[in-house]
Amino acid sequence: MGKIWVSNYQKMSKKILIEEIGEIRKIVKQNKQRNKSIGFVPTMGFLHQGHISLIRAARAENQIVIVSIFVNPAQFSPDEDFEEYPRNLERDISICKDEKVDLIFNPKSEEIYPKEFETKVSVSELKKPLCGISRPNFFDGITIVVAKLFNIIEPNNVYFGQKDAQQALIVKRMIEDLNFPTRMHILPIVRERDGLAMSSRNKYLSDNERKSALSLYKSLQMAKKMIENGEKNSNIIKSKIRKFIKNMPFTKIDYIEIVDYEKLQSVQEIRSNTLVALAVWVGKTRLIDNVLV
Ligand code: PAF
Repeated sequence: MGKIWVSNYQKMSKKILIEEIGEIRKIVKQNKQRNKSIGFVPTMGFLHQGHISLIRAARAENQIVIVSIFVNPAQFSPDEDFEEYPRNLERDISICKDEKVDLIFNPKSEEIYPKEFETKVSVSELKKPLCGISRPNFFDGITIVVAKLFNIIEPNNVYFGQKDAQQALIVKRMIEDLNFPTRMHILPIVRERDGLAMSSRNKYLSDNERKSALSLYKSLQMAKKMIENGEKNSNIIKSKIRKFIKNMPFTKIDYIEIVDYEKLQSVQEIRSNTLVALAVWVGKTRLIDNVLV
């Protein structure tokens, strides 16, 4: 691990938690002057193995690792779960310490969005399909906060998970379009032992819902097998997935889509670099998952 420049206050308190933009900027600047590479993992906290895999990749490839923990109000619509979104800062700090994270940036909402805030960042086409249909403001909320975090932290490398495939593609587009001097790393989905994709929202599931939630992974595996066995017709695959998930209690399908993994446009015929993606309500919890074929 590289030697990180820290303020006297931090040295004395061994605190790795920073709340203010001014303070984290100062530390970033000092480390930049010393040519330290910064790896950044943006999160909304309630860290799980998926986040840990991103942190470990950042730790392996950078001298300084910064994790942000910020439940971003801009990516929740008024009827969504912003208030209930799981939070456990103490546990997150302890995980970050175990993973040798150098700094946690945990700003207050007013620090990121002061009263007069009015700027928008929008990746206008990629935000429309898939999750963008039922969550029209979601990706604008993500791109604004991620752009701000990139400007504050000035990372050389940033780490995102493939579970949020559309988010990753949108952030990648934004990095290129806005010339952020940062390199995007997209890491594979981390799953529970039985296949359920790791997500902070899995916490909401009751035992019975948890069983039904497995249908996301299982149906994607089924789709993958069909494709490997030569099925090329998207509609046939989608209708098999639909039938499989509908058979499970508590499920309500938001979307099942098969798209090219570049523009995220529906494809009729499976080719290479195709994403099978779905979003399903299990009880009151909306889960997403995908497989790249
Ligand atoms: O993936 C997430 O946790 C969030 O969307 C992100 C990237 C931290 C932005 O708030």
